[in-house]
Amino acid sequence: MKHVLVCVAWPYANGPLHLGHMAGCYLPPDIFARYHRLKGNKVLMVSGSDMHGTPITVTAQQEGKTPEQVAMEYHKLNSDSIERMGISFDLFSHTHTEEHAEVALSILKKLDDNGYIEPRISEEPYDPIANQFLPDRYVEGTCPHCNYDSARGDQCDDCGKTLDSKELINPRSKLNPDAKIEFRETEHLFFKLSEFRDVLLEWLSEGKEHWRPSVINFTRNWLKEGLIDRAVTRDLDWGIEIPREGYENKRMYVWFEAVMGYYSASVHWAKNQGKPDEWKKWWENEDSEHYYFMAKDNIPFHTIIWPAMLSGCGYKLPYDVPANEYLLLDSSQFSKSRRHAIWIPDYLDRYDPELLRFYLASIMPEQKDANFTWEDYVTRINTELIGNYGNLMYRVMSFANKNFPEGLSSKNPVNNELNEKTKIAFDKVSEALEACKFKKALQAIMELSQAGNIALNDAAPWKQVKADREACETTLVQFLNFSSSLSVLMSPFLPESSQKAWDFLGKDSKIEDLGWNSALDFQDSFELKQPLPLFTKLNMEEILEKEMPPEETNELANVKPEVTFDDFKKLDIRIGTVEKVQEHPNADKLWLLDVNFGGPVKRIVTGLRGIYEHKDLLGKKIAVLVNLAPAKFRGEQSNGMLLAAEGEGVVSLLEPDKDIEDGSEVH
Ligand code: MF3
Ligand code: ZN
Repeated sequence: MKHVLVCVAWPYANGPLHLGHMAGCYLPPDIFARYHRLKGNKVLMVSGSDMHGTPITVTAQQEGKTPEQVAMEYHKLNSDSIERMGISFDLFSHTHTEEHAEVALSILKKLDDNGYIEPRISEEPYDPIANQFLPDRYVEGTCPHCNYDSARGDQCDDCGKTLDSKELINPRSKLNPDAKIEFRETEHLFFKLSEFRDVLLEWLSEGKEHWRPSVINFTRNWLKEGLIDRAVTRDLDWGIEIPREGYENKRMYVWFEAVMGYYSASVHWAKNQGKPDEWKKWWENEDSEHYYFMAKDNIPFHTIIWPAMLSGCGYKLPYDVPANEYLLLDSSQFSKSRRHAIWIPDYLDRYDPELLRFYLASIMPEQKDANFTWEDYVTRINTELIGNYGNLMYRVMSFANKNFPEGLSSKNPVNNELNEKTKIAFDKVSEALEACKFKKALQAIMELSQAGNIALNDAAPWKQVKADREACETTLVQFLNFSSSLSVLMSPFLPESSQKAWDFLGKDSKIEDLGWNSALDFQDSFELKQPLPLFTKLNMEEILEKEMPPEETNELANVKPEVTFDDFKKLDIRIGTVEKVQEHPNADKLWLLDVNFGGPVKRIVTGLRGIYEHKDLLGKKIAVLVNLAPAKFRGEQSNGMLLAAEGEGVVSLLEPDKDIEDGSEVH
């Protein structure tokens, strides 16, 4: 038994959660925590809403609310989403609590006492029109590392580097596009991050084989470049106040205090339990391991800045930081600000959370970005979750219940091969889950389920039941045991439907009480309950129609850049009559037309051959651009261009709708 602290990145309370958050941040730690609880380890899983800083004030301004209103509203919404998705936090708190502020100030003090905090005068961006300093998200500019032109004052979204607004090239004020940013002196508290370089390098130099290569490489490269001391206060009026003279209008930097949430929430949880010292088992016991789950843009805060702070206080360093890549939507990043997202509350209004858990786990962006599409979602649910797993479970239970309503028993399990496969899969799944390889673990379960399908078809109990009822009973006991094993293995991923299956199997218990090893238990008699299918098949057509209606738009597609009326006036378009139609001597797609403009005749080469016949063109009044520079087509000069409309598979000549004299101008 060990103490496992599952730390989960704190989502900003400035918008609803989307599928990307679920796949990258919340589902992986939940699977992990559920597994460890089943193993009998002591898990504490904490997170909460990140409520301070400029992400919240910017949204508040946009929505015409106070930062507090915005933060509390989204905290409520997001807590609800998290609960409905079955994410099993021990505490999902937020950073605007007294408990958090108290811990944050005590950590600041501890770092200060240990000599790692220092007030310094620094030059910060100032908007002379708004008359204020521009912290973090109020300033944008070009990233000095990757040249991304919308990097923010605190971080570049493109390359992931944390920044100081002073590093931005061509900084702009988000408050006033016309403001000429000045750098003015202001005092801030600085955290001496640079002093931790060696400690961190040493910490990361060995025993990190279990870390994801992307995370360890990113971090080592960063450390190689050196660390710079960072301001940990801001000129802002929303956040944790600093009890220090001259800091009345300053607040703690949001990232600096949010990461402390892991610590404060542990303390807060213990207090809620009525055992105020209980948190120490995770923070002070030798046997404890700390895991931090997040998406890749959060890596440096969890592998460098927070570990430096932990080290500065003498607290325990992370055991692993299994950061994920991104989940993409139709191949581009989910984005709150661009509203390119599928929101969890919307999903939950329409579909089953367990289907999403399954789908996201099966495509989890562990090594590389993954892509969400509704089509793939429906396909995987129908063929894998239901076609492979759900149907097997339901077939076995319903067949057994129908044919042996009074119960089944057998002392003589026959299928040793299937038992063997279950044991091997059990080890594989355990190993993968411990290593935070969730996709791999799920794959192993699905392979086992597939092996079960094949074995069931081979055993064919539906034939046995007529020929040899006893043999059939033995087969079914075997497969009922197999189904219980599968439901235990599946339960970290799909807690609800696994428990449902467990109930149908007639077990009077909770999977979580029996634990992970019960996947290998063997039971020789069953009294089933009337089973129901675990999942309902999705209708592809219906879902695609609902989720991806053809885009309605009032905008004309592919409009060319604007021109002025003067530009248009340069075009000389006239009406003329086709008085002669000849084949081009060297091109079988071209006609040579002689067009009469009320006296003057112009020769025009046109590509209408094959579309318009000779007789359709002769004598026709058409519109021609007559001042187009002459051009040669296969040796024949064209002195203008006739106007025609082109639609899908149709070409149609423009002609005047009244008789009008040749040479008339079109405008
Ligand atoms: N709020 C941040 C984000 O959404 C994550 C903060 S994680 C914490 O990117 F560790 F700082 F809490
Ligand atoms: Zn960058």
